[in-house]
Amino acid sequence: MKHYLKSSQIFLFVTVLIACFTPAVQAKPTIRKDSFGKTADGKPVAIYTLTNSKGIEARIITYGGAVVSLRVPDRNGKLGDVVLGFDSVADYEKHTSYFGALIGRYGNRIGKGTFTLDGNVYSLAVNNGVNHLHGGLRGFDKVVWDARPSTGSAGASLDLTYFSRDGEEGYPGNLTVKVVYTLTEENELKIVYSASTDKPAVVNLTHHSYFNLAGAGSGSILDHLLTLNAGRFTPTDDGSIPTGELRAVKGTPFDFTKPTAIGSRIEAADQQLKFGSGYDHNWVLDKTGNTLGLAATVFELVSGRVMEVFTTEPGLQFYSGNFLDGSIPGKSGQEYPKRSGFCLEAQHFPDSPNKPMFPSTVLKPGQKYSQTTIYKFSVR
Ligand code: GLA
Repeated sequence: MKHYLKSSQIFLFVTVLIACFTPAVQAKPTIRKDSFGKTADGKPVAIYTLTNSKGIEARIITYGGAVVSLRVPDRNGKLGDVVLGFDSVADYEKHTSYFGALIGRYGNRIGKGTFTLDGNVYSLAVNNGVNHLHGGLRGFDKVVWDARPSTGSAGASLDLTYFSRDGEEGYPGNLTVKVVYTLTEENELKIVYSASTDKPAVVNLTHHSYFNLAGAGSGSILDHLLTLNAGRFTPTDDGSIPTGELRAVKGTPFDFTKPTAIGSRIEAADQQLKFGSGYDHNWVLDKTGNTLGLAATVFELVSGRVMEVFTTEPGLQFYSGNFLDGSIPGKSGQEYPKRSGFCLEAQHFPDSPNKPMFPSTVLKPGQKYSQTTIYKFSVR
C-alpha cells in the first residue's frame, strides 16, 4: 500500500510537470471551401466556412458575397444562427430580398433611376416603384465574386473581388471592387470595402444581412432593443427618396437614442412610418468624419445576445423587415414572416447623387473608395 501511494504520487507529479511544459493546444481560426452548386448559367459557386478560435462560424458564398449563416453564442454559450438565408443558389438568384448580400454599386435608392455627373445624364434600372434600388436588376448581390481565403492572427478572412465594367447597370466607369470579410478573434464580422475607377463614378457599398438575435426563423424581431447613435434621420417621400431634410428624431418614433423595443412604436400614426411600411429609413449618425464609430447596439433579452455595429459611414439604414411575408423558403425549412429579421445597412445617404447637400458618393479616378463596418457579438 505504502509503495502504491508513492508511485501514484510520482505519477501525479510527472503528469503536472508535463502539463506545465507542454504548450496548450490552441484552437485557431480556420477557413474551409466547399461547393454551393452552380448558377443557372453554369457558374460554380463556392461556400466558405470561417471559424474563429472561440468557435463562432460564418458561412459566405461567392454568389453576391452573401453571408448564408452566422453562428454566435447565447448567454449559455449555445451557438445559434442569427441571419436569414437560403439553401440554394437558385433561391439567391430568384429572390430580391438581398439576404446577407453585398450591395452595389449603389446601396439604397436613386430617385427616378437617374443622376447627372459632370454634365452627363445617366439612366439606371427602375426596379423599386419609380426608383432605382440596390444597384439595379443585376447588382453586386447577383454576380459571382472571385475569392481568396486566408487565416492569420486577426482571424479568418475571405477576400472577394469583382470587376464591374463601364456601363454595367447604367453606371459610369470601370470599377474594381474588393471586399474583405474577416471573422475576428474578438467575435466580430468585419467588412472592409475598397474600390477604384477609371472615370468619375458614384459608389455606395453596403451589406444586407437580416438579423434575428433570437435565431433565424424563430419569429418576430419586434422585442429586440435597439439603440441608434443618431439624433437625426432623413425623412422621405412616399417612394422612400429623402426630401433632403435632416430631421431631429426627438419626440418621434424614430428616436432610438436610448434602448427601445423595435416594435414599441412601429404601428404609431406617423407619416414616415406609413411611407416605409414600418422602419425603412436612413439615420444620420452622430459621429463625425469617416472614422470608425459605434452606430448601433441591439440586445435580445431571451438569448442575451448583443450585436454592436461600428462603421466609418455617415448613415445607417434601419429596415425592420416589413416586406417579408412568410412566402419565401428560408434555409432548413425556416419561415420568415413579416418583421422576422432586421437590417442595419451602413451607407452614405440614399439618393446622394441627386442631393448636393448630402455627403458625396462621387469617386474620381486616382481616388480610393473605402469603408469599414463591423458587426460585433457578445452577451449580457
Ligand atoms: C432595403 C430597402 C427596403 C427593401 C429591402 C429589401 O433595405 O430599403 O425597402 O427593399 O432592401 O426587401
